[in-house]
Amino acid sequence: MNTSSTAGADRSSDAVASTDVEQAEREVRRVLAFQLGTTTRSELDDAAASLRGRVSALLGDPSAEEGKTHGGSADRGLLLETGCVPADEIAVVSNGAALHPDRHRTAGRTDPAKLRSLYEDGHTIRLGNLQRVVPFLADVSRSIQQETGYSNYLHAFVTPPGRQGLLHHWDQQMAVIVQITGSKRWQLWRPMFPSPMREYQESFRVWDPGFIPRWEAMGPDLEVDLRPGQSLLLPRGWVHNPHALDSEVRSIHLTFAIRERTPVWVAEKLVGGVIEKDAFRRVILPGDIGGHRLSQHVREVRQALVEHLAGLDVDDFAQSLHRAAVSEREYTT
Ligand SMILES: [Fe+2]
Repeated sequence: MNTSSTAGADRSSDAVASTDVEQAEREVRRVLAFQLGTTTRSELDDAAASLRGRVSALLGDPSAEEGKTHGGSADRGLLLETGCVPADEIAVVSNGAALHPDRHRTAGRTDPAKLRSLYEDGHTIRLGNLQRVVPFLADVSRSIQQETGYSNYLHAFVTPPGRQGLLHHWDQQMAVIVQITGSKRWQLWRPMFPSPMREYQESFRVWDPGFIPRWEAMGPDLEVDLRPGQSLLLPRGWVHNPHALDSEVRSIHLTFAIRERTPVWVAEKLVGGVIEKDAFRRVILPGDIGGHRLSQHVREVRQALVEHLAGLDVDDFAQSLHRAAVSEREYTT
């Protein structure tokens, strides 16, 4: 689980069968070998260290010595102090609850003075989709997609010392978390649902008020303390409950949310190709939208689809699929 540090990782390791841990470790190594263009832990650490300096500078962290080298004064404080992040990409959260956007906007725009005040009151500031507004992060995001075929996006979380932004939840994609400043404890539980995806089995849609008390009573399956420059691969669906550890230093981390391709994606692309065939674009009359007539249409379309798929040149299709994988961005990216 923890790809560049073992701090805290074995605290509750007896709660997870060693084979699970080994399997997770293998999966992490397999994924990271291409995801970040690294094959060894030290290379990954180097990449995280480089990002750390530049992101610290970008967020105006006065302790970011590396930022003086990598970020330059033009970047200093850009995101928090100038309000350059688009208003609809900012969320302000505390103990799991998000504030109304008017609390950090003025006339619909990002208001850095309000953000600062909310931060000083203990709220976590989430700066979303930084790959859209920060060129070097756009490069990182693009590189990940070119290497993996996975579209992705990244958020920064700035949490005041000792505070908590989001509570227990799980996400619909894997994440690589890079700790920039301060330290954060990640309590982790195995997935409630296997491979949640898009809106299917999204945590808030299938939420049960008994979840958190049950997890708390069980204790986490893993607990990982991330320190500056360290990173964590959080597999899709794993429940997490992060909070800033240090009572003196704020926590800044980046989350690279990486959408794994799945058979659903392949299936959608396969079916999507039928638009090129005239027969699939014909009108179905209003009188046929219901009853046995509609059932008959379904039968005919299913048959036509089976024939279409059976006639596909799979290798040609795979080539076009690869081109789409490395270039297309999904709805959130
Ligand atoms: Fe999350």
